[in-house]
Amino acid sequence: MKIAILTGGGDCSGMNAFVRAAARSSLNMRDETSVWGVIDGWKGLIYNNYRKLDKLSVAGIASSGGTILGTVRVPELATDISLQSTIAQNLHDNHFDYLLVCGGNGSVKAANSINSIIQREGLRTKILVAPGSIDNDVANNSGSSLGFYSALDKSLEMLEWIRDTASAHRRVYLIKSMGRDSAYLAYYAGIATGAEYVICPNEEVDYDYIASMIDERDRDTRIIVAEGYEKSVNDIREILEQIFRKRNQIHEIRTVDMSYFQRGGKAAVTDILRASWVAFRMVKDAFNKCDSGFYTAFYTGHKPPVIPLDIAADDSQTSHIDIPDDILELALALR
Ligand code: F6P
Repeated sequence: MKIAILTGGGDCSGMNAFVRAAARSSLNMRDETSVWGVIDGWKGLIYNNYRKLDKLSVAGIASSGGTILGTVRVPELATDISLQSTIAQNLHDNHFDYLLVCGGNGSVKAANSINSIIQREGLRTKILVAPGSIDNDVANNSGSSLGFYSALDKSLEMLEWIRDTASAHRRVYLIKSMGRDSAYLAYYAGIATGAEYVICPNEEVDYDYIASMIDERDRDTRIIVAEGYEKSVNDIREILEQIFRKRNQIHEIRTVDMSYFQRGGKAAVTDILRASWVAFRMVKDAFNKCDSGFYTAFYTGHKPPVIPLDIAADDSQTSHIDIPDDILELALALR
C-alpha cells in the first residue's frame, strides 16, 4: 500500500505527533507499505512535492510545534475546480491508495471537493481527515480539534504573564486571541485564567457596562477579544478611553496580541495522545480498505466515530461555532 500524509491550513501543535504516528503505524503494521510526506500541504499536491518517510525521519517530533511537512496556504483551492482536479489526478497518477490529512476547516472542505472528483472519475485514492486546528471549529460537536488544547496551554501562560504586569501597574489589558470566527480559544482561555471579560464575534457589546466593571475593580483587568469580533483592540481602547474621559475617570489601557504565539510551541499531552490515536486508527482502517471519511477526535482508546466528508465539510451540520450555554454559565459562575 502507498500512503501520503498531509498537514493543511494553519499549523498547530499536535500535527507532528499525527505525522509520526501515521508514518510509524503504516510502516510497522504492514511490510510492503511506503509512506510519503506531502511537502507544504495542499500546495505540495498541486506540484507533486513529496518526501519519502521512514521511521527515523519522524523520530523525536511528537511533542514539537509546527509541522515538519510544512503547510502553505492555497486559498484558491476552495473555489478553483481545475486545481481540485489536478490534485485528484496527481494522487491517482502517483498510485497513492490513501491520503491522510490533519487540518482545519479549509482542509476538510478541500478534501471533500477532491474526494467528490475522485469518486466521479473513478480514481484510486481515498482521503481520511482528522481535525487539526487551534480554532476548534472543525466538526467540533464531534470532539475537539487536535491542537486546540495546546493553544489553550500557551494562551493560559501568556494571560498569567499579563496579569502580573497588569496588577503591578493597575492597568487594563485588551488582549487579542486568534480563532478565526470561532470564539472557543478566546472563551476557554478566559475561563481558565479567570479573565474579567471575553468579547466574542457578533457580540453586542455594552461598553458602558465594561467601563463600570473596570472602574469597580481594584487592580488588574484583562479583557480577551476574539479575532472574529468586528472591532480591533485599538478601536475598543479608544471607545473605553472616551467613556472614561466623559466620566472623569482615569484608567490606563494597554493592548497586546497573543495570536501567532498561541499556535506555536510544545504540544499538550492530550493533543499528542489524541493525534497519535486518531492517526493509528486511520492507518488500521486503511489496511482494512475503508472509505474516505472524517475522523473525530475524542479520547485516546475509544474508537473515533467516522463521519462522511460531505457532512464534516458542511458547517451548518457540524461546526458548533456558538459556545454551548452550559459553558457560558460556567464562565459567569466563576466571575
Ligand atoms: O486557522 C488557524 C488560524 O490561526 C486562525 O485562528 C487565524 O484566523 C488564521 O489561522 C491565521 O492565518 P495565517 O497564518 O494565514 O495568518
